[in-house]
Amino acid sequence: SGISPHNHEDFIRCFSDSFGNSKSISRVLYTKSNPSTYTSILQSTIRNSRYNYASTIIPKPLAIITPLKKSHIQAAITCSRKHGIQVRVRSGGHDYEGLSYVAGVPFVVIDLVNFRRVIVDETTKTAWVEAGAQLGEVYYRIAEKSRTLAFPAGLCHTVGVGGHFSGGGYGMMMRKHGLAADHIIDAQLIDVKGRILDRKSMGEDLFWAIRGGGGNTFGVVIAWKLSLVQVPPTVSVFNVTRTSLEQNVTKLVHRWQYAVSKFHEDLFSRIYIGTVNSTNGEIGIRTTFTSLFLGGVDRLLPMMQETFPELGLTKKDCTEMSWIESVLLFAEFPTNASLDVLLDRTNSPLIIYFKVKSDYVKEPIPEIALEGIWKRLYQVDVQRSLVQFSSYGGRMNEISESSTPFPHRAGTQFQIQYSVFWVKDDIETSKSRITWMRRLYSYMASYVSKNPRGAYINYRDLDLGVNNLNGSTNYKQASIWGAKYFGRNFDKLVRVMTAVDPDNFFRNEQSVPPISSWV
Ligand code: FDA
Repeated sequence: SGISPHNHEDFIRCFSDSFGNSKSISRVLYTKSNPSTYTSILQSTIRNSRYNYASTIIPKPLAIITPLKKSHIQAAITCSRKHGIQVRVRSGGHDYEGLSYVAGVPFVVIDLVNFRRVIVDETTKTAWVEAGAQLGEVYYRIAEKSRTLAFPAGLCHTVGVGGHFSGGGYGMMMRKHGLAADHIIDAQLIDVKGRILDRKSMGEDLFWAIRGGGGNTFGVVIAWKLSLVQVPPTVSVFNVTRTSLEQNVTKLVHRWQYAVSKFHEDLFSRIYIGTVNSTNGEIGIRTTFTSLFLGGVDRLLPMMQETFPELGLTKKDCTEMSWIESVLLFAEFPTNASLDVLLDRTNSPLIIYFKVKSDYVKEPIPEIALEGIWKRLYQVDVQRSLVQFSSYGGRMNEISESSTPFPHRAGTQFQIQYSVFWVKDDIETSKSRITWMRRLYSYMASYVSKNPRGAYINYRDLDLGVNNLNGSTNYKQASIWGAKYFGRNFDKLVRVMTAVDPDNFFRNEQSVPPISSWV
């Protein structure tokens, strides 16, 4: 990319100059000249240890900027444009492929850790949420004001709203309320020219694009305005585990696929499928059926009896609680934990390397193919691979495919997330796990959505294709992955990008490229 070390120094000088005599720069700009603070900030939100090597394999940012004010973001944009340096915006750092803090070109990270105010207005049932807030902070602040207001977004409390809403975002209320992005009614964005825009000044096309068209593409989102949803005071939760050591789980999972479309929209259902060791050392398939039901057990049980009797759900499998307690449970905390745990931003101490892929299913997968999945799960160490089936339908069927950039709406029965994990940082393990994942993915091709084969941008997968590093990527190349993530919405995203950032300043390996940069 033709950058010299001078660009780096010039960038630092340009950025520092914008502070004048203010001392606050020591709380905003971090460079390798102070390796311990630089490293601790860089690592603070890295979730996938594949991108956290202490070694030199992973390219590191020239600087990390933690803005305290909007003017610091504007200065970072102006100076990096002037000196030919790329920008990666980071909110929660949960990108599966580390795109918010790794790049193959000289770059700086704008980390929004200090932009995380959440202001809930229970009278208008809205909230302004700054992009660096994590989901747990949003849920906490809502619960502080009301136990019957909520927001339909992801499960893990440390996911950042900056990236999550930029890619759609969904959780246990998706069949009732759709995606998080479906409930964004205004936003604040700093564009490539450094302008601070809201919904009105950015216009409806750009406002459409930022609600699902992918992060680090159209500018830096500083805040979102959310329309909150109403939840009943009591919801019901169940986690029911069935293993192949005791019964025919293939038949059960097969039947679930037919039941899904009949579930009431108040019910969200997910199956976690992995392997398990029995006490006598036998390995089996373990399926856990997890649900949130927006109502009481008395209403839930007859519904399950009617639509999915094969599960054999009983009253004692179910627990009634408030919605916020269910948030704790799905974030893997005890339901009686203090809500304060949702505010905790400490990164998980677990060192976990992982690779994830996604698929969308429109027709039930035959039993024989499910058994093909099980066979492949057995090839990995016990509990190191996981397949999740998440029910679609309900409200998702009613929202048009073009209403946001996220296209996987009516006709999608469920989504699959495939994950493989490893804990040892050696090249052989990582190679064999990734190869395993790619084989599973190619095995599944004939059973999932086709032309294009759909994928979820928030489950980032660079195997689907990447932009050229220098930013000149043509339509044909980008549409390979663009059509998988966005379907027919890809063309409109390209048009919006061409209008707002024709020089392709905001970009990453899978950002939508503007026409003007095509070769
Ligand atoms: P991160 O900061 O890494 O950003 C992701 C992308 O958005 C990057 O390209 C980044 O540059 C860009 N970006 C970030 N902030 C931006 C901003 N302010 N303006 C512009 N661009 C910005 N998904 C889901 O739908 N439901 C779920 O329940 C879960 N659960 C879950 C659990 C765990 C443990 C992980 C690791 C991930 C998930 N996800 C998920 C996936 C998650 O939605 C996805 O990784 C999001 O992009 C994460 O957003 P962050 O802000 O945390 O990531």
